[in-house]
Amino acid sequence: MATFLTGATGFLGSYIASGLLAEGEPLSVLVRAKSREDARRRLWKALQLHLDFNAFEDHLANRIEVYPGDLTESGFGLSPDDLERLIHSTESVIHCAASLNRRSERSCMNVNLRGTLAVIRLARAAQAGHGLRRFSQVSTVSVAGHRSHETVSENEAIDWSRPDYDAYGRTKKFAETMVRELLTDLPITIFRPSIILGDSRRPETTQFDMVRAFSFLAGMPVLPFRPLDRIDIVPADWVADSVVRLHRGTPRHDTYHLSAGRLSEPYFRITDALARALDSRPPTYVPILEKPFGAGVRALSHLAGGSVKLGAKLLDVFYPYLVYDTVFDSSRAVEETGRAPAPFTNYCAPLLEFARRNGFKFPYVGWVGEPEGQKDPAGVAVATDVGATRGTSP
Ligand SMILES: NC(=O)c1ccc[n+]([C@@H]2O[C@H](COP(=O)([O-])OP(=O)(O)OC[C@H]3O[C@@H](n4cnc5c(N)ncnc54)[C@H](OP(=O)(O)O)[C@@H]3O)[C@@H](O)[C@H]2O)c1
Repeated sequence: MATFLTGATGFLGSYIASGLLAEGEPLSVLVRAKSREDARRRLWKALQLHLDFNAFEDHLANRIEVYPGDLTESGFGLSPDDLERLIHSTESVIHCAASLNRRSERSCMNVNLRGTLAVIRLARAAQAGHGLRRFSQVSTVSVAGHRSHETVSENEAIDWSRPDYDAYGRTKKFAETMVRELLTDLPITIFRPSIILGDSRRPETTQFDMVRAFSFLAGMPVLPFRPLDRIDIVPADWVADSVVRLHRGTPRHDTYHLSAGRLSEPYFRITDALARALDSRPPTYVPILEKPFGAGVRALSHLAGGSVKLGAKLLDVFYPYLVYDTVFDSSRAVEETGRAPAPFTNYCAPLLEFARRNGFKFPYVGWVGEPEGQKDPAGVAVATDVGATRGTSP
């Protein structure tokens, strides 16, 4: 029997996968790929932030069952035999996959709604067949919709009378509702992370969208924010550790904010920390520029080219979440796991430095032992010897 994990090739999913593997948990993972071989390569690409190749191969041989498929296809696009095998071997589910494309109603509808419904259907079949221990859904604090200067608790987050900022928040909100209403007969846990950025233990990351937006902001001499506004950021290692602990245990609640909450830091503290570490001048805060700046970012995201366009595009999408001064109380998770998230100021400077130094790309290595220069089907440059593989295994 195994934990069925979706989204293992994603940033957070890779942390959850490596956390479960470290606990000796057998895993079934659904990976978008044309074949099992491609799926294994995509998984190696995702997990190399956490494991060296030997450890990965050992897990693959002994603890990971890879299913090449897609949430939006009928029966995940699996053969009837594979689908049966997946259902019969599933002891619990962690549904982490999602579309985070805030601008695409279609992508969010397909992955976050139809995809979640398909995972619920699998859970129902497993529950009917042999019983499911737990269904955990990775949601988001974006389900809370429009907010202003608030500290939001788990029970207050969903308020159907509020508008949503985007298709992502809207579809994740309804996905939570589907899980609650269609799985009433089994233990469910909903996890709502806030902004996940980096890892509090090391500078390396494989996720650069928000880091790029921060880099863009960190380079500006004037910021259009209120310096005392808080921003709720958490490191991926803490989020995944909390998901793994609570999913494997017996959580007291059905919903957890995985956020900095009352420990969230104000902008000025983050920019001071960055200025100190990067030996630069902290920015001047001019809150009156908030609206013109938002309009300028929108215009730049359409007009400019290159990295400015990319930074502006990302900032445009995240902008509402940067100026709403809203944080999400996480005392439930902190109390139950016994661990609080590290403050962003502890690790923001090395994270930014790593991202800039590597051109906002992770230096991936490929499948070990293949001929030099060969490109694998997952688009990973192939490593030429074992020494090329990073030996990190936290
Ligand atoms: N990142 C954040 O700041 C943040 C904050 C709050 C909540 N969350 C939640 O955390 C979860 C993971 O987010 P993330 O940041 O790790 O995102 P991510 O890196 O974009 O990963 C998304 C994962 O979902 C998979 N996926 C997407 N569409 C799929 C489909 N049709 N079929 C199968 N798999 C599919 C992706 O597979 P591919 O590799 O094939 O694309 C990938 O493994 C999501 O549920 C998100 O809502 C994230």
